[in-house]
Amino acid sequence: MTHAPIAAPWWETAAVYQIYPRSFADSNGDGIGDLRGIIDRLDHVADLGADAIWISPIYRSPMADFGYDISDHLDIDPIFGTLADADDLIASAHAHGLRVIFDIILGHTSDEHPWFIAAAEGRDSPFREFYTWRDGPTPGSPVGGPPNNWTAGFPAGAPAWTWHAPASQWYLHSHLPQQPDLDWSNPDVRRAQLDVLRFWLDRGVDGVRLDSIARIGKDPELRDNIPGQPDRHQNWPVVHEYLREVRAVLDSYPDRMAVGEVWLFEQDLIAPYLMADQLQLTHNFVFARLPFDPAAIGTAVADFEKLADDRVWPAWFLNNHDEPRIATRWNTATDDEALREARLRLAAVLILTLRGTPFLYQGEELGLADTNLAAGVGSDANARDPQRTPMPWKPPSLAGPGAGFTTGEPWLPVGADATTRNVDTQNRSGDSTLAFYRKLLRLRRSRQSLLTGHQSLINSPEGVLAFVRSTNSEHSLIALNFTAEMQTLHLPAPTHALSTASHLLSNHAQLAQPPMSTVSTLELRPWESVVADLTHG
Ligand code: NOJ
Ligand code: CA
Repeated sequence: MTHAPIAAPWWETAAVYQIYPRSFADSNGDGIGDLRGIIDRLDHVADLGADAIWISPIYRSPMADFGYDISDHLDIDPIFGTLADADDLIASAHAHGLRVIFDIILGHTSDEHPWFIAAAEGRDSPFREFYTWRDGPTPGSPVGGPPNNWTAGFPAGAPAWTWHAPASQWYLHSHLPQQPDLDWSNPDVRRAQLDVLRFWLDRGVDGVRLDSIARIGKDPELRDNIPGQPDRHQNWPVVHEYLREVRAVLDSYPDRMAVGEVWLFEQDLIAPYLMADQLQLTHNFVFARLPFDPAAIGTAVADFEKLADDRVWPAWFLNNHDEPRIATRWNTATDDEALREARLRLAAVLILTLRGTPFLYQGEELGLADTNLAAGVGSDANARDPQRTPMPWKPPSLAGPGAGFTTGEPWLPVGADATTRNVDTQNRSGDSTLAFYRKLLRLRRSRQSLLTGHQSLINSPEGVLAFVRSTNSEHSLIALNFTAEMQTLHLPAPTHALSTASHLLSNHAQLAQPPMSTVSTLELRPWESVVADLTHG
């Protein structure tokens, strides 16, 4: 009997590709990526087999945090292009079969936003209450210091308050002092920011990534955080009420979604954000801090499955513009090139076969590492430049130091690995990292079990992570050998009852193993990652 495919919303089956616009493609030679550049390179994303793009912020901004400090939510920064370019980008992505996710920052603005400029004029400003101001001792006075012990992200652990001399008050910010927090307890703020959301939904974006979203809810009494419970009063449960209002706006349009950046490292804290009336997805940060260790990864996956019922859908990532790339983080100085490559491919198989929505970060498909920058190069407040260097499209030996990213001087140097890890060179080889990602994404798309199937982890030898993804009619076995030794995986019942398995994909160049006639065991070669079909014989 055949089963109708399970209808799943697009964001559950999509593979999402993150574009950091400053570093993706520069169309006008000023050394900074822009919207025209993205439009020109959408073929690459569509050929890769991604289903959606998430674009980091492109709005008007003084760029203290490279766009995460917005001075006008409703216009595009001239460095990136114009509103007409944004419309073209949305239309062009759709024509390529790609959904579009914009990065929306509900919780803070730039200090150069007209709301903050007005608010800073004085205590009587009609916009004063858009932000949080508190009296407190003047810095430097004998009892000087901010109103409470809350901390900001940049630099990590700095006070979340900055003294504003003209009105002799402190204002609150979760990130840089140039990024004052909006006060979401003020209904006027909520109304204004939900209008921003509508503005972009009306222009045709399919989804939004909600930046630093846990921070829109704060303890109204501004009480001190408690030692051992970091940030608790800065991530107050009232956030869930606000998210219901956000969700109501999304639901007033067909098929729109929000993925939240819930920057919390304990998975039980993110589950409440994934309720039916709130976010469809949250980035799961747990992998960002895990070592290259199958036991730790397996535990994180199992923990999420335990927490979440069937309606809650995970979203996994290994790289983004804030975190060191895994090609750096998961490698050691002693790794040779073959081992380095095997690890990258193992990571690719992991992220693209786990139950959940995978998010890839530009350059991940080339296996890019962080770029070693000379002292004094790079200007990010939080030292995130090494993972933000430009995307290499061509070998620098042919295209010069811009590596096809720009004809001018790139705003940050392209990484040394661009000699081989660039799009053109990898496009020419059937065995490149890029070719492997492409194969894997195609395989994923072609197998319902990898898209929507249930997942069960298999009891594996130390050093191996293995799981089965199943629908009623299709079973995919994923087995990842994290060691330099051969490993034998014993497949337990009921998988064991299935009688044939064949490799669909392996990171070993040849699929030396013929289709197996029995699947009670599976031999894994050193560092091998396998996706196999299990069928009833
Ligand atoms: C999270 C973003 O990913 C990061 O790049 C940014 O600096 C902070 N939020 C503040 O907006
Ligand atoms: Ca440009």
